[in-house]
Order: sequence, then structure tokens, then C-alpha cells
Amino acid sequence: MMRFGTIGTGWITDAFIDAANSAENFIHSAVYSRTSDKANAFAEKHNVKNVFTDIEQMAQSSEFDCVYIASPNSMHAEHAITFLKKQKHVICEKPIFSNVKELKEAHQVAEENGVYLFEAMRNIHSPNFKSLKDNLDKIGNVRSMSLHLIQYSSRYDKYLQGENPNIFTTEFSGGALVDLGVYPLSVAIALFGEPEDVSYFPIKLRSGVDGNGTLVLTYTNFTCTILCSKISSSYNACEIQGERGTLIFDDAGVINNPRLFKTTSKEPVTLESVSQDNNMVFEIDQFKRIIETENKQKYQELKNISYNVLSITEEARRQTGIVFASER
Ligand SMILES: NC(=O)c1ccc[n+]([C@@H]2O[C@H](COP(=O)([O-])OP(=O)(O)OC[C@H]3O[C@@H](n4cnc5c(N)ncnc54)[C@H](OP(=O)(O)O)[C@@H]3O)[C@@H](O)[C@H]2O)c1
Repeated sequence: MMRFGTIGTGWITDAFIDAANSAENFIHSAVYSRTSDKANAFAEKHNVKNVFTDIEQMAQSSEFDCVYIASPNSMHAEHAITFLKKQKHVICEKPIFSNVKELKEAHQVAEENGVYLFEAMRNIHSPNFKSLKDNLDKIGNVRSMSLHLIQYSSRYDKYLQGENPNIFTTEFSGGALVDLGVYPLSVAIALFGEPEDVSYFPIKLRSGVDGNGTLVLTYTNFTCTILCSKISSSYNACEIQGERGTLIFDDAGVINNPRLFKTTSKEPVTLESVSQDNNMVFEIDQFKRIIETENKQKYQELKNISYNVLSITEEARRQTGIVFASER
């Protein structure tokens, strides 16, 4: 049995707990929030006894073995390292950290303390992603990829009204690429590895973060174009185009409805897929299995994906002068 604590009380933490409830032997046993009112209310809602308003105190508790972190992006590293130092496994929301320096430090602390650090990148753990991967050989030489995650954010309305929602600020390491672009970017990296070159073309907001952007990854024989936006909407599918066919799917964050068009056919073949009401169940299953079986090879694979994704977003920000507050 594994018991986990949670940091953050937003809807994504509810979704994680909901997914965890359907996993075997994975028990929610501790809650953290900055204020006791919120912490108690959240604990009551999820029927949890151990309530904390102090991260250091929580890290010293023996009531859980693993922590799920869904704090604002800029706080992930400090929170994760605090728990890793106390021999807790960490499942940290995407984007794992603000930069590679933080990731290297956290991996080092995890190793020294004999625990695991995972990035909760939900799309690449799903059976639908596996289905795409398993069918890649059917499309021949890949020649182009167009992936996107473009979702108008209600927080943009607040931003336009003069508020500063965390995700639209450099203080909290926000912006479209690190918030949404990382989903399609993780798909590209998990399928094809590190690209040879990267170029980013953002639309920057006055707060200093990117509201929208185009990221171009150059591979040896093809390019992958990634569009991300929190200030517009899209209704298009994602495509991986090869000489003998095209793989198509909806929503790079979820990977819905994967299908294959052969160059010789006008009708798509629907690929094996599962319905994904809450696809966080797949990452939980994967992380639990890696811990329980001490699968270092799979762990290293996931570490490499997180590392490559973070290196690329850092390089994209370097090219375009998007500097997070903690880096100034
Ligand atoms: N995997 C996914 O599908 C998915 C979806 C959404 C979000 N996420 C990720 O989950 C994380 C949280 O996202 P979110 O939208 O919930 O973020 P958020 O609203 O900025 O804050 C998350 C939590 O942090 C605490 N918090 C808020 N403002 C804070 C501040 N100024 N200082 C310290 N703590 C603060 C709040 O918890 P308390 O008030 O209880 O302390 C809040 O519940 C992000 O990393 C995001 O990228 C992932």
C-alpha cells in the first residue's frame, strides 16, 4: 500500500485524488493548504485526517510515502526538494520546474535519498499514446508534424481586466509554452527524442510571458511545428504526416480518437483507444509500478523526457527574452 499527501487545492488536485481513488492501494492521507480554513475544508471533502499548513512540518510526517504537488509552477522545485529530502516520492505537476538547474538539483536529492521524482505529464502515459506509438511504423518516413494545444483561458479575461492570475506572470513561471506547449512537446520528445534545433516565435504579453507561440523543432528528416495558446481557440486535430500515411488525433493534452489515414485510402482507420474521462489514472498506475518494481530503466526514460522538454522550453525562453522572476 502507498499513502500520498497533496499540495494545492485547485481542481487539478481534485482530479488527481479522483483518479487515485480508482487505483489499487493508493490512499490519500494528508492535505496541505496555506490557510487552515481551506486545508480543513479540503481534508473534510476528501475524508482525510492529516491536515497541514506548514510544508516543512508536513514533510516530517510519517503519515504518507509520496506527495502530489500542484502548487504554482515557480514553487514546484522548492516544494519537491523539501519532500525528497525527507525520503518522500514526489509526483510533481507539469511543467516540472522552471529550469534545468532546478531539475538537476532535485534529481540529485532524489537519488541521495533513495526516492523517485515524477512529472505528472498525463498524455504520454495513456494507452492512446501507446496506440499512436505502436502505429508509427505504418506511416513510413515521417516528413512533418503539426501538434498544438490552444485553449482560450478564462484567466485571460481576468488578466485583461487588470488582475494578475499566476499563470500569466513571470513571478509564478507562467506562459503558454510552459503551461500548454509542454503537452505536445512531450508527445514529440517521447516519440522522436531530442531534436537537432529549436526556434520559438511567441506573442508576448505586457506581463512578460507568452500568451501564444509557435515552437519549431528540427529533426533530421522532418520538422515538428507546435502551436500553443492561452489567448485563442483551435478546432483542428494534431497530425503526424509520413510518406505512407498520416496519424491524426484530437487534443494533445489527452490524445483522443487516434486514427490512421493510409496514403492509398480516403477513409481513416480508427486505432485502438480507450475513453479517457480522467486520464490521470494512467500516470498514477505507471508511477506506482515504477516505484514498486524499482524499474530504473523506465524511470530513466521518463527523466530524459522531462529533461529534454524543460531544456527546450528554457532555450525557447532564452531566445525570446522570457525571463522568470526567480532567474532575474
Ligand atoms: N495535469 C493537468 O492537466 C493540469 C491541469 C491544471 C493545472 N495543472 C498544473 O497544476 C499546478 C497548479 O495549477 P493551478 O491552476 O491550480 O495553479 P494556481 O491556481 O496558481 O495554484 C495552485 C495552488 O497553489 C496555491 N496557491 C495559489 N496562489 C498561490 C500563491 N500566490 N502562493 C502560494 N501558493 C499559492 C493554492 O493552494 P492553497 O490556497 O490551498 O495553498 C492553489 O490551489 C500547475 O503547475 C499547473 O501547471 C496541471
